[in-house]
Parts: sequence; C-alpha cells; structure tokens
Amino acid sequence: MNSSQNRGCEALIASIAVAIIFVTSVVCKAEDGYRLWLRYDPLPKQTIESYRPRIASVVVPGDSATLEAIRSELVSGCSGLLGSPVHVASEVNRDGAVIAGTPKSSPQIGRLGWERQLADLGPEGFRIRSLEIGHRSVIVIASSGEVGALYGAFHFLRLLQTRQPINRLDVTQKPRVQFRMLDHWDNLDGSIERGYAGRSLWDWKALPENVDPRLRDYARANASIGINGSLLNNVNASAQILTADYLRKVAAIADVFRPYGVRVFLSARFSAPIELGGLKTADPLNPEVATWWKQKADEIFKLIPDFGGFVVKANSEGQPGPRTYNRSHVDGANMLAAAIAPHNGIVIWRAFVYDMKPGYDRAGAAYENLQPFDGKFAGNVLLQVKNGPIDFQPREPFHPLFGAMPKTQLMPEFQITQEYLGFSNHLVFLASMWREVLDSDTYAKGPGSTVAKVADGSLYAQRLTGIAGVANTGSDRNWTGHHFLQANWYAFGRLAWNPDLASRQIAEEWVAMTFTHDPKATEAIARIMLESREALVDYMTPLGLHHIMWGGHHYGPAPWWDTEPRADWNPVYYHRADERGVGFDRTATGSNTLSQYHRPVRARFENLSSCPEEFLLWFHHLPWEHRMKSGRILWDELALHYQRGVDWTRSARKRWDALAGVIDSERHADVAKKLAIQERDAIWWRDACLLYFQTFSKRPLPEGVEKPRKTLEEYKAKSLSW
Ligand code: GCU
Repeated sequence: MNSSQNRGCEALIASIAVAIIFVTSVVCKAEDGYRLWLRYDPLPKQTIESYRPRIASVVVPGDSATLEAIRSELVSGCSGLLGSPVHVASEVNRDGAVIAGTPKSSPQIGRLGWERQLADLGPEGFRIRSLEIGHRSVIVIASSGEVGALYGAFHFLRLLQTRQPINRLDVTQKPRVQFRMLDHWDNLDGSIERGYAGRSLWDWKALPENVDPRLRDYARANASIGINGSLLNNVNASAQILTADYLRKVAAIADVFRPYGVRVFLSARFSAPIELGGLKTADPLNPEVATWWKQKADEIFKLIPDFGGFVVKANSEGQPGPRTYNRSHVDGANMLAAAIAPHNGIVIWRAFVYDMKPGYDRAGAAYENLQPFDGKFAGNVLLQVKNGPIDFQPREPFHPLFGAMPKTQLMPEFQITQEYLGFSNHLVFLASMWREVLDSDTYAKGPGSTVAKVADGSLYAQRLTGIAGVANTGSDRNWTGHHFLQANWYAFGRLAWNPDLASRQIAEEWVAMTFTHDPKATEAIARIMLESREALVDYMTPLGLHHIMWGGHHYGPAPWWDTEPRADWNPVYYHRADERGVGFDRTATGSNTLSQYHRPVRARFENLSSCPEEFLLWFHHLPWEHRMKSGRILWDELALHYQRGVDWTRSARKRWDALAGVIDSERHADVAKKLAIQERDAIWWRDACLLYFQTFSKRPLPEGVEKPRKTLEEYKAKSLSW
C-alpha cells in the first residue's frame, strides 16, 4: 500500500468509527427512564420542518449559573428535538433567534419596555412572545427573575415536546402557589420512610466534598415543572441534621439546587435543644430554648442564605412537641417562627396530629387539635394539612380543616409515594385523586369555596401559600421504581403551579414527552392512566372502605388485623364489619365527626340518598342488604367493585401489550412486568377482602365474581409480598 492509499484507508477507518459512534449513540441510548420527561429526542419530521425556521439560534447573554442553565437547556432541548444543532449566538442577526433572560441580563429584553408587566408576574412568572426585533422574527422568553426565565424556557420546550404551534406565541404565566414543595422522608442512613424506588438521593457520607452529579438532574427535573422547595429529611426527624457537620452537607446540596430555583428545607426535631444543645427542656416558652433556636437559625442562614425553613411534625406518632411541656401547637410553631423570621424563613407546621382519646374517631382528631387555634399562628407559619382526615388512603373525603380555619395559612399535603397504593408496583395516576380533592367544595364561604382556592390563597386571602407532595423518588435508575410513576412527580409539580389543570391535559403532556407522539397510542395510554385510580380504589377499598391494609408496611390487604396496640392502627377499627353490616358511622348516631364540615357538605354526606357511593362506608355503617343505586344490595355491589378492579388490570395489560411496537422494548417490558404484579395483587385484594367480609355477610358471591384462589386462612397466614 502506498502512502496515499494508506491515508485513504485511515480516513475510511476514521469515518467508519465516527459512523459507529453515531449509530451506537442513537441506537444504544439505554431506555432506562433516567431522562424522565426531558428526553429531547427528535420530533416527527413534519413538526421539525415547521419549527426549524423559528428556532435557529439561542441568545441568552449573561454568566450567572441560572442563565447558564437556561442556555444549556435551550440548546440541548432545541437541538435534540429538531434533530440538528442549534447554536448559541450573542446577538440577533438572523430570523429564528430564541432570546431568554431578564430585562437586566438581556439588552434585547431590556429594550422591550416590559418591566412593569414582568414585575406584575413576579420573579417566577414569565412571558413568551413571538416578535420582530429589527426586522428579525424572534421568540422572547422573559421574566423579571432569572428563575422565572428558566421556567419560561422549560415551558417553551414543553410546547415543542407536545408539538404545539409556535408561530404566534403569546403566553403569560405565573405560579398560583408560592411554596411548591417536594418532601423527602429520607433518613440519614440512606433509607427512605415509605420510599419504594431505592435509597436516598442524598449521599450524606460523601457530602459535602463529593456531590453526586445526579442532584443537578434532580433539580433540573423539578425546575422543569416549577417545584421550588425540597425538604431533605424525614418528618420523623433526627436532630443530627441540625449539627454543624450536617449543615455543611445541606449547604452543598443547596448550592447545586440554587441555580434551578429549588430552596432546601429541613425537618426540625422539636427536642433538638436537648439532644444537641444540652438543655434540660425543649419547652417553647423557655427563653433558653428560644435562644437556642434563634442561634441555630442564624447558623443555618449564614451557610445557606436562601434556606427555606423548618417543617415540623410535633406530638404526632411519638414525636416530641410543645404538648410534651403542656404548651400548645401555637406556642411551638410561633417560637420557631420567631427564630426564623429575621431571615424571612417560614415554619411549616403539620396538622397530622391524632392523639389517643378513649372512644374517639381518628378522622376528627386533627380538627379537634388544631381548629381551636385558628388565627393564632404567626405570619410566617403555614399549617400543612393532609388531603384527607385519616392518612393518604386511595380515597378519602377532603380534610374538614380546609373549611374550618379561615384565619390560618393552610397548605395541602399530598403523598406522591404510594404507601397505601401498591408501592411502586401499581400503575396509578394520582392527578385524578388530587383533582378530586382540589375540586372539593368546603362551602366555607358559600358554594365554590374549593380546596384549590384554599391552596392558592384566594379563599382566605392568605399571604403565604403552599402545596407539598411526599416524594416518590429514589436512587433507582428510573427515579420512581416504575416508569409510569414518574407521571405522578410530574403531575404534582404541574398542579402545584396551577391547581386548576385538568388531569387529562397533564396525562397527555406527560405521555407526549415521555413515550410517544402517536395519537392513537397517546389516547390509549392516557386512558389507562385516567382510569387507573378508580380501578385501584375498586380492587383495594371500594365504596368508602379505608385503612384495611396489612399493618406496618401497608402492602396488601389485612381487613382482619386487630393486634396493634392502638385501636386506630387496626383495620377492624375502620371498617367495623359485623353481622349487621359494614362501615364507620360518622353521622350524629356515630362519632359525629361529620359535624366538622359545613352544613351543605354535612347534609350531602349525611343523607343516604345524596351521599356519593364512593364515600358511603366512610360515613355510614350499613346493612349488607342495603339497597344501592344500581338496585343491587350492598354486599353484591361491594363484590362486583372488587371484581371490576381485577378486570381493569387485565384490560390494562392487554392494552399495554398491544402497544409493543410503539414503545421502546425496554420500557415496554418493564411496565408489562409491573402490570402483571398489579393483576396478581388485585386478585389477592379481591379474594382476601371478600372472603373476610363474607364471614359476616354470610352471603354467596354474586354472579360475575370469580371464585377465590385460596382460603381465608392462607391469605391471613402471610402478607402479599412485593
Ligand atoms: C403515615 C406514615 C408514616 C409517616 C406519617 C406522617 O402515618 O405511615 O410513616 O411518618 O404518615 O405523615 O407523619
């Protein structure tokens, strides 16, 4: 071979190598779910053609970390979606510039005269508009704050990902809720309370020196859906998180989150002054205790100037609190609030309090404990109320406190992680459940006084507003243990931003961004998602049943359970089945906690003819022969609901199988495996519950309900495994 042949050969080898790298990078991109809804794979050809003239360059001047993040997101997002590189430019010298920033960071935006309007939208709000600048057609993404511009950039990318027209953009948005919090129940040993997707994302041992690069992706994902707060540790808190050593670790995490607008919060253990400060008491009215917290707050804010504040679980499930010292919840909350107020921090005080009184109804406990303090909490305290009065069940009526504390800043707490809903094994789209709660009418100020209006502060004119979701994330490669449960993280963020968004819109957006652009497949997947919650209620706790899960871990059914030391930790306490019937009487003839709701709500639930059947056994104890709207008796209806739930898992599996060619094989197979578990579990739920309740109803299973696979004794012997 002569030298020119040699060179030709080298060139050929080099180009083959490049081709191989390109092909493997396209073909071998692991479909492991890591990229969440921020995949940025090329859009269909026609869409690319319509977008390309409008997206030729990205103009984001400035060098702050947030502006850097905007620039890199727009470049990687647009390049990926359009299937060819979109470059950064320093000025607008052609059509199709995408300009992003604030009037300060971007001279082009500064010259638009939008200051007033942007100021009205606040530092997290944004405006996106198609305009002409110097005869060039451009798209401007602007905000008065850099984080707002980042939210705008993600919104713009979402428009592309969901293939919306971008010819004449004119969008203005601002978040309806101020504190949009993802709460992690992470322990310092790396385990997660009620976590089903691996270990904690925070590697406390390696911090602060080594920060897992994954934390940046976590923050990015949150920013893409507008989540701006992250509670790092379990509400059943260890005081250790407040030591100087740990605070340095927390500060390192905060540094990674900051460019993405995510502030960190910590759960504060009320007895920390004793455990860390060597004090004899944690009495909130003791001046030394107050001083200890004040100094602790000063120390934290010195390290983390934008620290969000404390979340506190006090006098609940064995946690210490002000009641330990005969002080009230207000004494405790306001003492901490005073410590943190000079730094503009907030205290999120949890209303999940249910101390034991003989014969009381747990569903009424939070109201009894907290409602008397309406109007007494300090201005920087939010009272965090779970969506329902018991505990994150598949279905609960809305919490009566939402309608009962007009002079208190309330914020709803949802559970994204599926403690009671099949862990990370069951496909259930929770937007439908949260919508149901947000749309519930408290009647606190007449009709239309919905929980959504409590959340966004408009009902009671709250100064501070918030929504929290207990996270379902962990170290699993796909973040949430089940590809579909990413949708719940997504949905939570979208609803916290706008509590009026429709479940269908959220589902369709997520499917387009995560799985497919095929309209038929999108419709099929969205339908599975939208039906899933009702199906899960059917096979777990239909007609208002609740808390009949296996004790402790809460996976699988155990309606027979009666061995917990506290009555209200036992399923038998909740369903009260006997020979006469089933259900918890919360009307005036029973616990009367129905009286905690406003009159129209009370009347609706109280009256058997108006009580929605999905809440029937939540509020009433009814005979097995009770006549249902269908004309069937209660026992038959109950059994048919269980069967319907099982049937749904089968139909969902079939529909998913039919999508085999549309979804990549890796994720398709992963989900198929999980759906098989879901069917197995649904059958187990149906059989175990019906066999057990049958010992009271003494009636045969109605036609259409399958024969149980095992005996009741077998179901009782060992819990369903996950
Ligand atoms: C549930 C859950 C606990 C958690 C508690 C809470 O009861 O089972 O693990 O600590 O809620 O919200 O504080």
